[in-house]
Amino acid sequence: MRRPIIAGNWKMYKTIEESISVAVGLKRRFYTFSEADVVICPPFTALSKVHDQIVDSSIMLGAQDIYWEESGAFTGEISPNMLKDAGCRYVIVGHSERRVIFGETDEDVNKKVKVVLKHGMIPIMCVGEKLEERDNGTTFEILEKQLTRGLKNIAKEKAVRVIIAYEPIWAIGTGRTATPQQAQEAHKYIRDFAERSYDKETASRIRIQYGGSVKPENIAQLMSQEDVDGALVGGASLDVHSFTEIVENAVK
Ligand code: 13P
Repeated sequence: MRRPIIAGNWKMYKTIEESISVAVGLKRRFYTFSEADVVICPPFTALSKVHDQIVDSSIMLGAQDIYWEESGAFTGEISPNMLKDAGCRYVIVGHSERRVIFGETDEDVNKKVKVVLKHGMIPIMCVGEKLEERDNGTTFEILEKQLTRGLKNIAKEKAVRVIIAYEPIWAIGTGRTATPQQAQEAHKYIRDFAERSYDKETASRIRIQYGGSVKPENIAQLMSQEDVDGALVGGASLDVHSFTEIVENAVK
């Protein structure tokens, strides 16, 4: 049985004070919570302060990106040790906004996944197709390429710790969610990929999250699909009430 994991990606929203306020609100409900892993990924500037709030609770901290070098002259970048120091246990890697807006490649994603694993944190590796790719029938080809390159040279003992987030780009921030069937079909493809690349046991253990306009109203149906193990939530994770409802509805 795979443990559900619901993560909130706050993107470039919230000051330190606003972040603390959401963290405190969530902590009231999820101080102790055993039915799912609950992760919040505030902006870098708020990580440490949010960690102080949630450290004794069930809520875990994640970062939205990382750089693969240990230290050095890399102006503007954040190292693995800096994230660990701030209390992060998860790191989102290869989000489509990083790929599309900032030109991140599958090779960059691979380096980031490896460094996150090396430092004992858990990577949430995002994959997903653009609208035109879905429309021209190349969704699986795109997923195959992103998965092959993103997980290159990662042994199965480490791969079981990687969380894959399937985020169809056309569903992100658009209000247009993939249907539960579309999500299941892609998640099944990802699990089959893991079985082909590793083995059945590894594939059965890897957790696959869906992301793209997840709301309290659609989470239950998505979670009812066999290969959907959780969600990576953007907009609806910025509000205590809606994120709380998403987590609650996910495990009902
Ligand atoms: P939305 O939930 O706002 O569509 O964003 C999804 C996402 O990109 C999470 O990483």
